[in-house]
Amino acid sequence: MANIAHAEGLAPLAPLDNDITITQLTDDPYPIYQRLRTETPVLRVASVGRTLLTKATDTKWVKDNPELFSSDDPNTPMERALGAKTLMRRDGPDHMRLRNAMTSAFSAKNIRDVWIPAYERVVDDYISRLQPGETVDLFQTLTGPISARCLAILLGLNEASDEDMQLWSDTIIKGAGNFGWKPEIFAVCDRENARMDACISAAADNLRGKDDPSALSAMINAEDPIEFEQVIANIKIAIGGGINEPRDAALTAVYGLLTNPDQLEAVKADPKLWTIAFEEAVRWVAPIQVSSRRVTADTEIRGFRIPEGDVVMTIQASSNHDEEVYENGHLFDVFRPKLPHQAFGNGPHFCLGTHVARRMVGQILLPKLFERFPNLQLTDPKDAIFSGFGFRGPIILPVILS
Ligand code: HEM
Repeated sequence: MANIAHAEGLAPLAPLDNDITITQLTDDPYPIYQRLRTETPVLRVASVGRTLLTKATDTKWVKDNPELFSSDDPNTPMERALGAKTLMRRDGPDHMRLRNAMTSAFSAKNIRDVWIPAYERVVDDYISRLQPGETVDLFQTLTGPISARCLAILLGLNEASDEDMQLWSDTIIKGAGNFGWKPEIFAVCDRENARMDACISAAADNLRGKDDPSALSAMINAEDPIEFEQVIANIKIAIGGGINEPRDAALTAVYGLLTNPDQLEAVKADPKLWTIAFEEAVRWVAPIQVSSRRVTADTEIRGFRIPEGDVVMTIQASSNHDEEVYENGHLFDVFRPKLPHQAFGNGPHFCLGTHVARRMVGQILLPKLFERFPNLQLTDPKDAIFSGFGFRGPIILPVILS
């Protein structure tokens, strides 16, 4: 670790780390975050090119103060990947106008009357395709396709196939995370952007003038609609961020329950605990582990100077294990006292899909899966592979259906 750079009369810059690699953070970031929380909770990490914040109070403070920590980071590859600037990279009234254009689709009434019944049908259908006795990867056979279908319905893209929805989500995630600016990754983005644009435009043509609960309909049929290119951009960012998180949360919950049989038994005995299992899964392994914010004026965090223009990375994955908030935060424990976590973010960009994802995974998918396969087993806990720095979850979860 390099020395702290001192400037005359100013607080020092945060320490600079030249050792931590993106590969280490992708494979197993939690031991690293545990060390950083104790030793250097504000740390410039050369491989990431950002200042990492690993304590719960700091990550929340940053997200709750958008004037000082802007979401508009011009160096993010997200804009290049999508060919547009989405609501996630905007601040203030500009951001709110775009966010509000979608919110009616996520209303409590829609969730209760429209999305829950629709998702129950989807989950029943996909679970019924699995046969007892089979060994399958739950990612490929169940949670990936279910998350894709549920999102397609919510957004109003009923014609898009599960395969395309998953390909598009993956393409956007890889493009938005293409910090090496590799041209071949952006080439795939360009190809799939053209296909997404065509799909969204065709769906919009069908929905125009119709009374429909979907997010696309809410945006195009509003009294004072936002620009159509912005509609496309925001549907695309929802594709990028609406499939993998419920998919990964569901897989993490299944893994957590199957590796803690006493907890699984308790949850089966008290159906209210299914949503707690979901909540504990997203706390334990946050599907979106990190977020970036650009500093708009010189500031200080824990006595270190963060100059204007720097980009801080809030590691909500680390905050969710912070020893100052949680006892044994590294363990999956549905019995732990209820405490706020940061898996859905904080501040004005707080996840729009929180409630719908909670219902979909916690109230529908998990109970129905364990109802159909009461003796579901992991082939071996070691066969489950968790991976990811920005987004994290099991990339393979082999189970025996019984
Ligand atoms: C377990 C499930 C989910 C988790 C853990 C999750 C997590 C998050 C997080 C952490 C953010 C904030 C990112 C930031 O501050 O930069 C976010 C934003 C967002 N999420 Fe989710 N998400 C989930 C499901 C969904 C679903 C199903 C949708 C449906 C479309 C969705 C739509 C969005 C949108 C549109 C935003 C941007 C909000 C804004 O910028 O104002 N999310 N999500």
